[in-house]
Amino acid sequence: MPVNLPYALTAELTHRCPLHCPYCSNPIELQKKESELSTDTWLSVLEQAGELGVLQVHFTGGEPLLRPDLELLVRHARELGLYVNLITSGVGLTDRRARQLAEAGIDSIQLSVQASSSELADSIAGFSAHELKRQAAQRIRDNGLPLHMNVVLHRTNLHQIEEIIELCVSWGAERLELANAQYYGWALRNIDQLLPRQDQLHEAEAAYMRAQRRFGHQIELLWILPDYYEDFPKPCMGGWGQLSLTVAPDGRVLPCTVSSEIRTLSFENVKERELAWIWRDSPSFNAYRGYEWMAEPCRNCERRELDYGGCRCQAFLLTGDARSADPVCVRSPHRGIIADRIGTIANENAGWPLYSYRGR
Ligand code: SF4
Ligand code: FES
Repeated sequence: MPVNLPYALTAELTHRCPLHCPYCSNPIELQKKESELSTDTWLSVLEQAGELGVLQVHFTGGEPLLRPDLELLVRHARELGLYVNLITSGVGLTDRRARQLAEAGIDSIQLSVQASSSELADSIAGFSAHELKRQAAQRIRDNGLPLHMNVVLHRTNLHQIEEIIELCVSWGAERLELANAQYYGWALRNIDQLLPRQDQLHEAEAAYMRAQRRFGHQIELLWILPDYYEDFPKPCMGGWGQLSLTVAPDGRVLPCTVSSEIRTLSFENVKERELAWIWRDSPSFNAYRGYEWMAEPCRNCERRELDYGGCRCQAFLLTGDARSADPVCVRSPHRGIIADRIGTIANENAGWPLYSYRGR
């Protein structure tokens, strides 16, 4: 099977973060500051990505503003002709840094929010961040930059969905991702506290449709499906090693941000190998390309070209075998794992959830 060119690079500059979100999808084991790539190595990664055909770079973390070289990296990526997006909590986006990012040519900033009220938002983040985010949104707009926002939706904030959309409109957002939580990394630890009931999801989806009619002309709304309640899995990442690559803070190159959790694979590092070789030839990127690796029921399923067997990371995290069908699939012999999870939360909804907060 021919190997496509990657379209996007996710550059995880750091795993350090001031927030403690229970739904964090970063791996359980975070990279420490001492193991982060140097500025020079990141500059080289950007050049190699541009040569490989990458068109977009998303600087993310953790909180990428904790890296003092962020503006330099943004400038370099723009000089290479890449579209540059920053994914941030907004904490640390001072007037000076917002101005410097604009001067460096950044194309867009995606700001996260946890809820519509500061009380709920700060309780979810485990940090008083909501007011800082409002200020960050203002600074992004004041510097003439497009403001994109995202919220991770789960049992505790789903009822606020219309208010969250109103808030983002009032802050001047052009685009809002309503991302139902995905249960990877740290989030999987908190799944019993995060997973909503199906009736909550139905109400939230109806509220999203109402908001679409009210605000659709002012803001682009994207509803990211909660896959546990689907019959078939999502075509995760558009297929393994097909569209994008992630460079982790320590330089490991991953087919997606969660894949370091797949313990049966080992990943090459930009400190030792060229990015182009890793993309085209490394065992980790080739592990689940095409269809040969598939086991039944995916191997002979007519949907395999639509969903590629779902998500490799979810398959590994729930079954211990990344080659198995994503357990979300009703044809998977492991579907019972999802059904059990949903079953356990059916009657739980009282009181503040006992989260395991990230980094505490
Ligand atoms: Fe997709 Fe595999 Fe399920 Fe078929 S059996 S729908 S390919 S996950
Ligand atoms: Fe890694 Fe789906 S999140 S393949």
